[in-house]
This record gives sequence, C-alpha cells and structure tokens, in this order.
Amino acid sequence: MKAIQVGLLGAGTVGSGVFTVLKRNQEEIQRRAGRGIEIAMVADLDTARAASIVGDHATVVNDARQVIANPDIDIVIELIGGYGIARELVMEAIAAGKHVVTANKALLAVHGTEIFAAAHQRGVMVGFEAAVAGGIPIIKSLREGLTANRIEWVVGIINGTTNFILSEMRDKGLDFDAVLKQAQRLGYAEADPTFDIEGVDAAHKATILSAIAFGIPVQFDKAYVEGITRLAPQDIRYAEQLGYRIKLLGITKRVPKGIELRVHPSLVPSKRLLANVEGAMNAVVVRGDAVGTTLHYGKGAGSEPTASAVIADLVDITRLHTSDAAHRVPHLAFQPDQMSSEPVLSMDEVVTSYYLRLRVADQPGVLAKVTGLMAEAGVSIDAVLQREAGEGEKQTDLIILTHDVREGAMNEVLARVQQLPTVLAPIVRIRKEELA
Ligand code: HSE
Repeated sequence: MKAIQVGLLGAGTVGSGVFTVLKRNQEEIQRRAGRGIEIAMVADLDTARAASIVGDHATVVNDARQVIANPDIDIVIELIGGYGIARELVMEAIAAGKHVVTANKALLAVHGTEIFAAAHQRGVMVGFEAAVAGGIPIIKSLREGLTANRIEWVVGIINGTTNFILSEMRDKGLDFDAVLKQAQRLGYAEADPTFDIEGVDAAHKATILSAIAFGIPVQFDKAYVEGITRLAPQDIRYAEQLGYRIKLLGITKRVPKGIELRVHPSLVPSKRLLANVEGAMNAVVVRGDAVGTTLHYGKGAGSEPTASAVIADLVDITRLHTSDAAHRVPHLAFQPDQMSSEPVLSMDEVVTSYYLRLRVADQPGVLAKVTGLMAEAGVSIDAVLQREAGEGEKQTDLIILTHDVREGAMNEVLARVQQLPTVLAPIVRIRKEELA
C-alpha cells in the first residue's frame, strides 16, 4: 500500500525531530502503523533551512497553502504555533478534508471548540498529543488508558522552563531574575519568556487537560493564571524548612460545585514524587476513582521528545484512516453530544490551603493578633514558623501554614491582617497542595 502522505508546516526544532525520527525508525513505525508514513512536502518561510532538514526526500515550498491544496497530502502537521496564521491554516486543512496533527496548545486552548467541531463535521482527526507535556503520552493516557475512571483531579508540572528556574532558585539560593538570565543563556528560556514565566503556557495545557478529564469544552478564558515572577528565594527556603517545595502547578479538579482550573505556584510536600521533579522535566499526576493515583513523567519539550508525540498521532491517524469517522476516539475523550456544562469555578470558590509570609514588628502580641483575626474568620492554622530576629533587629518574618479554606474567605481575612500596624509589608501568599 502506498505510504500515507504528510505535509509539514513549519520546519523548526520539532519539525526536524519529526523528520529525523520518522526516517530513523521508519521500518518499525511502518510495522506498527500497517502502512508507511512519508513527509512528502514541507512549507517554511526559510526554504533553505527546510531543505537542509529534508534534503531531496520532500518538496520544499514557502507557502503553506500549497501543501493544503495538494490532493495527495492526507495529513497536515502544523508546527507554526500561535493563534494567527496557524488557526487559518488548520481550519483550511480541515475544510480540505486533511487530518491535522498539531503541537499548538495555545491554539487549542483558545479555539479548540471551533476546531474540533469543524473536524468532527468533516470527518477528520486533529491529533494534539504533542500540545501537552511534550513527549509524555498524557492525552492518550487520559483519553483511552484511563477511560474507565471518573477522574477526580489532574495536577501537573507542565512547563519545563519554570520548573528549571524554580529548581535553580532552590539549589543555588538565587533570585528569579538571575536564574531567568542564566536559563536564557542556556537556551532553557525563550528570549521573550512571558508565556512561560507568567503561567500562560501551563494554563493552555491545563485547559486542554480539564476538557479531556471532565468532558467540558476548552475554556482558557476561565482559567486562573499566576506565574512565578514574584517568587522570592526566602519563600523557597522557608517552605523547605517546613517540609515543602514550591512548584508551578497546573491544576484541574472536580469538586461538588464545578471544575477548578488554575495555574499558580504551590507548596507541595517534599516527600511527594511530584515535588522531586527537577530541572526542565514535566510530570502529571492523575487521580481516578478506580485506578487511584498515576504519575506520568518525562521530557516536556525538545526536538525528539515532541516528535515522539507528533509521530504517535501520525500512526493513530494512519491506523484509523480507513475506519468510519463516527467510531474514532473522540477528540476530547467524551462524545461531542455528551459534553458537560459543569461550571469552571472562580478562584473565590476554590478551597485550598496556604503558606503565608508576614513581615512583622518583633514585639509581644503580634502573633496573637494575627492568629486571632484568623480564628475569628474560621481559618485553621496548621503550622507557624517565626524566624529569630537578628541582634538589634526590630522586624521578623512570620510564616503560617493554614488548613483548607475558601479563597474568598482567605482574601477577606488577609485584607484585615494587612491593616494591622504591626504588619510591615505586603503579605506573601502561596497556595499549598497536599496531594494526599
Ligand atoms: N515552553 C514550554 C516549556 C515547552 O517550557 O515547557 C513547550 O510547551
């Protein structure tokens, strides 16, 4: 049988990995897919770079629409990124009856509903394993391997750049800006790292995971997003003294009132495997009612790890190419007419525990006042750590760990505590996930 014909849009790091891995493992991939997979056409504005990757194995063009217009192309791989031209090309490829494979989390988190509906209508597949946690097959695990379960929560380290920065801040006691510069020098962080460090990239991925886990539409606009730019080295140190590490977590949970969808720095008990995921590695923990807790760990980015996920989608599509569209695995795990309207909750409704750092005057009664206000508001305290004031120092740090409390209630009591004349600086508040 003739090899399935693939068109590649964007011949950068991942595109070159897809080409290399397909070539290196072609025999084994063909035995698995039941048919050869061939990149026949590549579009990139930099045609010289594209040609240097594919040699004379594929036609190189500078106009992606030539790939979409080619009737011989069965599958289009979109590796351009962003919501602009990538969205137009994906929609055009679907309209032309091509299957699409993409690593574009931003596009799917924001426009996924429209894209999946168009694909469903046209009877084509959109593969996006590479969009979340790079090489870790978390989409397939959630959508197929764990399909028997009622998923309770999914919590992950799904951005390698920020995990690298946090690991370095903890290991070397450096502040955020110094480590970011080092990460940029080493190529771990982009020249414009905004999406990574502000938590947006992780929120795109968490949004996709929430849809697959709970059968809700992708709703990036409902995600709470907080990055790591304001984390101070002393909070990492105090957390460590209390038996915790700070990680940027993507969290989506089913609770009685709806679905939580949030990305923010969190304290995680040091003894949890997730707390020990270091450097640029990714890990996702899934809790299902039948299976219990499962941990999925691996490289979240990079040329060949991401290519591994892209090619897995190519193989899936190749295997399904002759089967009827209505019987394929649904894009978001649940049948399109079975999506749930459970609401994504506002942060005020989220119940979690907290690490608080207060800069206070070192004088009698301060701790009692702070804890008194908390007791009045029904906030239960789990642990308190007071740094001993240095010789002649009149201020000190007071660290408080709380038990679970509704975020809205926490905000109200913190506003009152902040007003105390003995609280000398803005209170630092980091959420905490026990993951028990
Ligand atoms: N920029 C992402 C990260 C990789 O740092 O994990 C691509 O999603």
